[in-house]
Amino acid sequence: MKITVIGVGYVGLVTGACLADLGHTVIGVDKDREKIDSLNRAEPTIYEVGLPELMERTLGRTLSFTTDTREAVENSEIVFITVGTPQGEDGSADMTYVLEAAEEIAEAVNGYKVIVNKSTMPVGSTRLVEKVIRRKAQGEEFDVVSNPEFLREGTAVRDFMHPDRIVIGTDSQRAAGILAELYRPLKAPLLITDPASAEMIKYASNAFLATKVSFINAIANICEAVNADVKEVALGMGYDHRIGFEFLRSGPGFGGSCFPKDCRALIEIARRSGYNFYLLEGVMQVNREQMELMVKKAERRLGALEGKRIAAWGLAFKANTDDVRESPAMEIVRMLMEKGARVVAYDPQAMKNALQALPELECAESALEAVRDADMLVILTDWDEFKLADFREVAGLMRGREILDTRNCLEPITVRRLGFNYEGVGR
Ligand SMILES: NC(=O)c1ccc[n+]([C@@H]2O[C@H](COP(=O)([O-])OP(=O)(O)OC[C@H]3O[C@@H](n4cnc5c(N)ncnc54)[C@H](O)[C@@H]3O)[C@@H](O)[C@H]2O)c1
Repeated sequence: MKITVIGVGYVGLVTGACLADLGHTVIGVDKDREKIDSLNRAEPTIYEVGLPELMERTLGRTLSFTTDTREAVENSEIVFITVGTPQGEDGSADMTYVLEAAEEIAEAVNGYKVIVNKSTMPVGSTRLVEKVIRRKAQGEEFDVVSNPEFLREGTAVRDFMHPDRIVIGTDSQRAAGILAELYRPLKAPLLITDPASAEMIKYASNAFLATKVSFINAIANICEAVNADVKEVALGMGYDHRIGFEFLRSGPGFGGSCFPKDCRALIEIARRSGYNFYLLEGVMQVNREQMELMVKKAERRLGALEGKRIAAWGLAFKANTDDVRESPAMEIVRMLMEKGARVVAYDPQAMKNALQALPELECAESALEAVRDADMLVILTDWDEFKLADFREVAGLMRGREILDTRNCLEPITVRRLGFNYEGVGR
């Protein structure tokens, strides 16, 4: 099939490259010329495992990139909208980029096309996009379909190729048939439903996962007070198949470009429909306080932070990505710096993005360089590199002996044996 993907960020680039690898002809469009130029030079613009190989196999064959939306759409049967839907001022999703893309698509509709809302968009967006396109493309044949994406950064290629389910929200049998055919090779359960339910499935899923994280963080905080170990508690809970092991890892709170904004957007969707989503508001509150708690832990260990040297391992919002959007690591680093600590940070992939977001941040060339003369080491992202670090060497370089492991990724006994004062979360 001939496919256009509008907005080649984390979702669009992975979607485009994967569909191209499945043999479809894919044109990736972005209004960011620099991004398009890099991609045309076969330089991936994001860090994502497996993506360079996919691009190498497909670029110039089934995959191409352009800034020309019109030409791309004119030559495609399926058009994915994968632009950003960031948080607006009142917490709701900002639809500016989606509407911009819809206007551009409308100019180019020439014969039947399936327009696919893959970005996370509020309930009613399928109808809205349809209306915007219809205004300019009267008499043209097209369908707009909601097809939310569930991939996770860090495992995006694998997630796209092996999804738990594919959700298609449409009243059009023709569009549903075309997308079902497109996704057939992925052999995933297919849920064809109405647009509003499809849109809601995405928000409800993210809100539920965020709830699990805040729940286990709340339990972790109680565990600390009663001398229980949250890792043991989560393990014991996880064996219950109604609960499951996933998303029961306590830590510094959830972050990233999706959970916080999607939770806020769902709270706003609820408010506008006359429902107070207290539960989800609580989830967000627990999450905010969890980040603050990490700073309090540092203060409890070091006393006043003014002038203290703190090594921060990790800036990405989770391991295996370079994304720092709404990263708890970044938020905690910011708070530590506000309290006067001298933070020296290291992240294997996210330092470039981190420096763009926080130019005054001091970064080190390596994890070991970051800990030199540090009073405390704070682990903020659970990269394997940190778990496998040589802590004997770390001990030799640090001035102090404090380790604050906000990801519970070290074995307390091992580092305590080396003379460290170890503190995790809920243990
Ligand atoms: N990142 C994730 O893990 C993830 C997972 C599932 C769903 N989502 C959702 O997918 C959507 C995209 O997220 P992302 O993280 O890939 O965003 P992103 O910011 O990485 O990428 C968006 C891209 O769209 C481009 N763009 C904006 N307007 C455009 C236009 N009119 N024409 C062409 N290009 C345009 C931007 O330049 C940018 O490159 C969001 O709605 C997000 O909530 C993201």
